Amino acid sequence: MKFISRQPLSSYVIAIFIIVTITGGLLSQIVTNQIILAVVLFMQFFILLFLVVRFHRDYIKPLSKAVETVDEILNQNYYARFQYAPVSELVIELGTKLNRLSKHLAEFSIQEQMQSEHLSTLIDHVQSGLVLIGKKGYVELVNRKFLTMFGNEQKDYVGYLYYHVLDHAIFEETVQNVFLYEKRVKETFSHYIGTEKYYYEVIGAPIMNEQNIVKGAVLVIYDITELKKLELMRKDFVANVSHDLKTPITSIKGFAETLLDGGIDDKETAREFLTIIHQEGNRMQELIEDLLVLSRLEQEDLILHYQKVNAVELLQDVVLTLGQQAEWKNINLTFENDLDEIWFEADLPRVKQVVINLIHNAINYTQEGGDVTVAVTRKDDTIQLSVSDTGIGIDKESLPRIFERFYRVDKARSRYTGGTGLGLAIVKHIVEVHKGKIEIDSEINKGTTIHVYLPVSKDLV
Ligand SMILES: Nc1ncnc2c1ncn2[C@@H]1O[C@H](COP(=O)(O)OP(=O)(O)O)[C@@H](O)[C@H]1O
Ligand SMILES: [Mg+2]
Repeated sequence: MKFISRQPLSSYVIAIFIIVTITGGLLSQIVTNQIILAVVLFMQFFILLFLVVRFHRDYIKPLSKAVETVDEILNQNYYARFQYAPVSELVIELGTKLNRLSKHLAEFSIQEQMQSEHLSTLIDHVQSGLVLIGKKGYVELVNRKFLTMFGNEQKDYVGYLYYHVLDHAIFEETVQNVFLYEKRVKETFSHYIGTEKYYYEVIGAPIMNEQNIVKGAVLVIYDITELKKLELMRKDFVANVSHDLKTPITSIKGFAETLLDGGIDDKETAREFLTIIHQEGNRMQELIEDLLVLSRLEQEDLILHYQKVNAVELLQDVVLTLGQQAEWKNINLTFENDLDEIWFEADLPRVKQVVINLIHNAINYTQEGGDVTVAVTRKDDTIQLSVSDTGIGIDKESLPRIFERFYRVDKARSRYTGGTGLGLAIVKHIVEVHKGKIEIDSEINKGTTIHVYLPVSKDLV
């Protein structure tokens, strides 16, 4: 076909000449009249020439054009179109079908390109590390997250055997097990980035083709550091609660046993021991109450009952309630204010709890004869509640930790003053659910000031 189509028209003319000459040679045997012979041969020449020109125009040329278009398409130029005068039905049909074909291929290639772009964007933005390993064990793909987790660049992994480039023994083991058992495998491991310890979960899965033959393996690596930290915190929390409950229980048990062993007969001892039992009972009750408050605050569906609160009145109230306690310690508890009312919206009992806990601490951690000052001001859309003391202060290292549950700078002192170690954790929670913030200033042996900022209206939250 290619051979015919590429012949120039002149070669056909030559071929016609040869045919006419042969015909002339043959006819000259039969036809004697030279004129008739010449006329016949002329007519034959022109008829043949006419037919060849038509055939060339209608079929050969369009076909060679079609072949060119197909060549273009084969070279992945899906925008190549077959353009030719509609000289015959066949050419029209060939043209429309060829153009439809290249249009479909163009659409298909755009779709394919889009899909592969989507896929690579997805792979690169997925928040887990991904590694694709081929049948022969060569790494075919690692995504961006994997690189941020384990360092290096794409080119350091892709094209290498997995056991040469994936540093962790756990990766090697996982891939081997995936290939061996042709099943999903799950492992966890830890890894240091600098001095930080990170925890990961790696899931390996085989990639099967339609015939269920393993074509490779995929590793998905999740960062489970946060989860692990939560788990550790929970374990710590349980250990702390158990410890803080065990101390008063042991004490109660001990004194009760002594009483049962005869201590009860001596009125004086009995009174003393029962007082201790009573105090330890109170301590347990406080701890359990604080735990309940915290657990309620941590509930997902916590509802705050907002109401209009006069901050001045609230502080006066609390100062009055805790006045007695301050007096026992000979502490000068004062409330500085110039205004009669400063209104804001909050869950009253909860904000009251914040103020109680702060003043409580200020009294607890201030020596006899010291000062505790409470103040409230409004700046724009924010209420600022402040509690200052001239007490023992908090050292710089402990400052960031005092809002943690059960964290006490001086455990013995906190226990002695009846602290549960949960007061500030509760404060922080309540302030956070009100979308406020806390600031703390402290200097050892000089004193501490804690500022609480709360939005004046819940609509600002
Ligand atoms: N006003 C303060 N002055 C000095 N230290 C404080 C003050 N408030 C809190 N702290 C320190 O922060 C720790 C945590 O406080 P908190 O959560 O209320 O627990 P606690 O039950 O021990 O009072 C306290 O044990 C104490 O060491
Ligand atoms: Mg406290």
